[in-house]
Amino acid sequence: MGLKIAISGKGGVGKTTLTSLLACHYARQGQPVLAIDADPSPCLGPALGFSEAQLIDLLPISEMGELIAERTGSTPGHSGGFFRLNPRVSDIPERFTARQDNLRLLLLGAVQEGGSGCICPASTLLKRLVRHTLLERDEVVLLDLYAGVEHLGRGTAEAVDVMLAVAEPTYRSLRTVRQVQALARDLGIPRILLVGNKLAGPEDRAFFQNEAADLPLIGCLEQSPAAREADRSSTPLYGLSALLAGETARIAAAIDQAMAQGSVRHV
Ligand SMILES: Nc1ncnc2c1ncn2[C@@H]1O[C@H](COP(=O)(O)OP(=O)(O)O)[C@@H](O)[C@H]1O
Ligand SMILES: [Mg+2]
Repeated sequence: MGLKIAISGKGGVGKTTLTSLLACHYARQGQPVLAIDADPSPCLGPALGFSEAQLIDLLPISEMGELIAERTGSTPGHSGGFFRLNPRVSDIPERFTARQDNLRLLLLGAVQEGGSGCICPASTLLKRLVRHTLLERDEVVLLDLYAGVEHLGRGTAEAVDVMLAVAEPTYRSLRTVRQVQALARDLGIPRILLVGNKLAGPEDRAFFQNEAADLPLIGCLEQSPAAREADRSSTPLYGLSALLAGETARIAAAIDQAMAQGSVRHV
């Protein structure tokens, strides 16, 4: 079975950037990759170099009312009533994704969930789909989360091999890492690994080593002007920065090591 990696952290720290780097790394190695964008306003597609034309027909699954109704047996726009709790999802990763060689992009969209754990047809379909991608797909699955650990629940979180917590060298982004860490532990995610992003110098690396010594720091990505260039040209950052591509390879190697040994290398 392929690796299942969830990427989490505070908004703007670089989750989508890291997801795109890892997706390009694994795809270049010849591995099939399923990249899942869970952001309600998705931007992983452009980060992976998908063109506007490739993305124009791709809607987040949460917005595909007819599909949700067809699969769950619910009535579109109607709440209440009966619907199927085990909708068929196995064809969705082939049929409702954009594809570039061995890299697929799936847009998930937002799960609406009431405070009391209410379930609705849309969230049932999304949860089922995430579960399917984690438990039954054999490619590398990268789940670019949005704010916390939404889309993961008991029974699915255990299928996540590693959770990468992304942080900038700031207390605020580390605070979010702590929240994510607590949620991920509660859910039973076995490995939570820290990736520092937007490092400007050695003091930033020292910040993580001092302030998050308990978390395995498996990689540090430099602050790079190539990130802006990638955004403006809608090309993958991976191809624009040999430095960041090299660090991505080291992060992937550290993930392999964590998987093999159950322990991890600190940088
Ligand atoms: N290493 C980096 N160097 C420079 N800019 C970066 C770096 N990583 C991310 N960025 C920029 O920071 C912003 C937020 O990154 P993004 O990956 O979208 O964050 P998130 O998905 O966590 O919200 C983007 O404009 C991105 O280009
Ligand atoms: Mg993002």
